[in-house]
Amino acid sequence: MNIESFLIAKGKRVEQALEERVREWTDAPEPLLAAMRYSLFAGGKRLRPALALGACEIVSGNDEAALPAACALEMIHTYSLIHDDLPAMDNDDLRRGKPTLHKVCGEAMAILAGDGLLTMAFDVLAGVNNIRVIREVARAAGVSGMVGGQALDMMSEGKKISLGQLQRLHECKTGALIRVAVRSGAMSGGADAKQLDALTLYGEKLGLAFQITDDILDITGSEDDLGKTIGSDAANDKSTYPSLVGLDRARELADEAVKIGRRALDAFGSEADAFRALALFVVERRR
Ligand code: IPE
Ligand code: IPE
Ligand code: MG
Ligand code: MG
Ligand code: MG
Repeated sequence: MNIESFLIAKGKRVEQALEERVREWTDAPEPLLAAMRYSLFAGGKRLRPALALGACEIVSGNDEAALPAACALEMIHTYSLIHDDLPAMDNDDLRRGKPTLHKVCGEAMAILAGDGLLTMAFDVLAGVNNIRVIREVARAAGVSGMVGGQALDMMSEGKKISLGQLQRLHECKTGALIRVAVRSGAMSGGADAKQLDALTLYGEKLGLAFQITDDILDITGSEDDLGKTIGSDAANDKSTYPSLVGLDRARELADEAVKIGRRALDAFGSEADAFRALALFVVERRR
């Protein structure tokens, strides 16, 4: 399974669906729409949509039912990046290889573009026929998930926290959306309890490994590959895996998480090969 072509295929599918949705917002002020489009269509790996679509395909043989969740998750993720880059948060100038949104259109419009993406994500998500999916996405994006994790992240700047606290922070700020991407896709495809449990464990471990790797790449990565500024975490005195346990141990912990995640896929046959490859991509990636 070539993971690059899997990501490109799923990315194209979600981008086309997102284009169709954005075109419906004809009454929105043009500068606001332009700001939302700037960040939403700036590229990005489209990992969360790929997970939602892929999980749906594993359990049902078809990814169609997961398209609303896939679009909604990418909108929520993009909003989280816009706000994460603001001067009051990480104060970053580069995102997805372009100047951050607030650098281009000012902080007020950047904040509002984020608000718009978050709110309209739930308009899009209302297209799923499973109310549990809507509730789970709200909770994963909300105060016990991504937003809560971002609060913990800000509260932990310049502090020494325990490894347990850091793991919880990462599971909230990044893990929750990745976990719910897998779950919402599986639920949209009609997964049974056993399938859902296996895929949930996969999503949890992948989410943790993804953020540990993000921390590592902030030190060892290249600005060209990542499309964001290297050294942002050190500049903000963030609590990260490398800052707490060192680069080598951070890599080991990411590998361990991926190993457990891949083992969870033993419940499936070759239909889960893309997810097996995706787990390796998460820790081996340069972008
Ligand atoms: C970056 O996410 C922020 C984190 C949660 C670590 P991605 O690395 O998925 O960013 P894009 O979507 O590819 O730009
Ligand atoms: C951000 O973590 C997680 C989000 C919820 C956006 P980071 O602050 O490390 O993400 P990057 O490195 O700026 O993409
Ligand atoms: Mg941050
Ligand atoms: Mg950041
Ligand atoms: Mg980072």
